Amino acid sequence: MLKLSKVIGHRGAATLAPENTLASIRAAAAAGAKWVEIDVYPIAQGGLIIFHDDRLERCTNGFGSTMEASLETILSLDAGHWFGHEHQGEKIPTFEQAIDCLQELGLGLNLEIKYDGRNVEAVVPAILATLAERWQDPDKLLLSSFNYPALQLCRRLSPTVHLGYLVEEVPHDWLLKLAAINACCLGCHYQPLTEHQARAVKAAGYLLVCYTANEAHLVREHWRWGMDSVVTDDPRQFVHLEHKH
Ligand code: G3P
Ligand code: MG
Repeated sequence: MLKLSKVIGHRGAATLAPENTLASIRAAAAAGAKWVEIDVYPIAQGGLIIFHDDRLERCTNGFGSTMEASLETILSLDAGHWFGHEHQGEKIPTFEQAIDCLQELGLGLNLEIKYDGRNVEAVVPAILATLAERWQDPDKLLLSSFNYPALQLCRRLSPTVHLGYLVEEVPHDWLLKLAAINACCLGCHYQPLTEHQARAVKAAGYLLVCYTANEAHLVREHWRWGMDSVVTDDPRQFVHLEHKH
């Protein structure tokens, strides 16, 4: 059974350190988070990196398409200076480096598969193979995606991996979608979520995760509605909740 915590650091802890870097993962752990969400991004030449954007400009000193960049170029970029000069020299992590860092810190991993439609048949097996080789505790791993075909393939290739379906707003066919891939979790934006939807997800027996809330008051009602976990850039705002029942 999945051992999800109430607080999941978003892109590590994006308020505290440059997102999706090892520094951000460490900052989440230092702030008391037990789980983090990071984005695994497949590039065209075949590597898997931890990155969010389709372009390099916002979070690195590089430019152009993330997908089309070579792994060598990506690994040479500075992914920290944009956030603050004290983070200068921070790199985009490879998927393997991130896994090793998470496990050293004893964190759970909510891995979001960023996938733009090309080559899912190669991308998903590569992600699962890396996890199979390196990730130790399957109950501290939740694979999530907005991309339903990617999740379908995850399920075809792994009967047991914990899956979460990500949506912005809860769609009318959420239950069919979750059931068809035997997902355990629905992830949605906290803002459009209604009490009725939240209670329906919980009544059907699924985990409910809401992203991305950075202040406690924004999701105060959501806990009452049954929300299991919050994804946050700033775990400091929520970690006291881990000890409440
Ligand atoms: O876990 C959900 C959250 O990460 C969704 O959106 O764009 O921040 O990856 P994004
Ligand atoms: Mg994400």
